[in-house]
Amino acid sequence: MAITPTATVEPGQIGVPAPGALMKAIVQKTYGEPEAVLELQDVAKPVIKDGEVLVRVHAASVHVGDWMLVTGVPLIARPAYGLPKPKSSIPGSDLAGTVEAIGNGVTQLRSGDEVFGWCTAAFAEYVSAPEDHFVRKPANLTFEQAAAIGVSASTALQLLRDQGEVQSGQKVLINGASGGVGTFAVQIAKAFGAEVTGVCSTKNVEMVRSIGADHVIDYMREDFAQSSQRYDFILDNVANHSLSDTRNALTPTGKLQSNNGTSGGRWFGTLGTVIKSAAVSKFSRHQLGPAIKFQNRADLLILQGLIESGKVTPVIDGTYPLSAVPQAIRHVGDGHARGTVVITINGADHA
Ligand SMILES: NC(=O)c1ccc[n+]([C@@H]2O[C@H](COP(=O)([O-])OP(=O)(O)OC[C@H]3O[C@@H](n4cnc5c(N)ncnc54)[C@H](OP(=O)(O)O)[C@@H]3O)[C@@H](O)[C@H]2O)c1
Repeated sequence: MAITPTATVEPGQIGVPAPGALMKAIVQKTYGEPEAVLELQDVAKPVIKDGEVLVRVHAASVHVGDWMLVTGVPLIARPAYGLPKPKSSIPGSDLAGTVEAIGNGVTQLRSGDEVFGWCTAAFAEYVSAPEDHFVRKPANLTFEQAAAIGVSASTALQLLRDQGEVQSGQKVLINGASGGVGTFAVQIAKAFGAEVTGVCSTKNVEMVRSIGADHVIDYMREDFAQSSQRYDFILDNVANHSLSDTRNALTPTGKLQSNNGTSGGRWFGTLGTVIKSAAVSKFSRHQLGPAIKFQNRADLLILQGLIESGKVTPVIDGTYPLSAVPQAIRHVGDGHARGTVVITINGADHA
């Protein structure tokens, strides 16, 4: 569906919405279960500052971090999320949409550009953020697919490239190959020339094979940690084995990247495995420490290139309207998303 900009804004003109201009957004005033603390409300439309763009959001996506920020779990992370309430009253970080207005000093984007990227407060009809948070949407993607790239694809890219230093011909295992990070990791590792094994449940075996995995292990029938097969790099998105059991599946020079997991209970949550792997990495050359990285424009451009060349295509679990963000976040929090969960806003392009 063609998107018609609601206003004509020339480069350099500040997009100041009319006083009192409102938009729909998901508002969170406190931490708790998604259905209890998230509400669709009318809020003020954002006003752009110098160097920022105003983006009309067509789709946003949900990742595990959104579930953490809404529930406030793990408790140890609350000071970072905001005390006593979340720093941002609107959750969401990954989106795709159309630039509707640009602030003074914006040089790389123009009104009408179709973009994807990240910001705070993405579960809303409009967002404003610095222009370097966005890059051009690949023409071969819908807004829904482009919204799915965000932090999940950036995480997969950074862990395979910077931590794993994955090379062509290496054997790579992705545990949790069917989730938000895993579906990107399988495709990016293939793009790097690796021989990729994906681990997932029976219902996802065909999907993981279809995105390029050379081998698929159904964890309901077989335990990769008990097999004689060895890997040069393991990206573990699940942490359902001990670190030492997982490292047993490595070659003599192999490396394990533990990407969270759920071992830490309410206090440490997904950070439980991160803390353990940080400690073990001091003593084991096979265990890589945590690699907390942030989204950046350079990596979005690399992902854009991988997508435009057909090497990577986002996998969409399903779509929810803006009013159903609580249900979408609940689904992701349950830990069985199949690819990325997407929120459609302002009538996303379903082409
Ligand atoms: N998404 C991000 O941007 C991001 C960024 C940094 C870190 N992380 C961390 O990375 C981890 C994974 O994130 P994600 O977004 O990929 O999660 P996700 O989208 O919730 O995916 C989890 C996947 O794991 C699979 N799974 C569950 N149990 C499994 C098992 N025993 N063996 C193999 N696969 C299993 C599930 O498949 P089945 O339904 O088939 O079981 C599901 O597809 C989380 O701990 C998260 O905190 C995520």
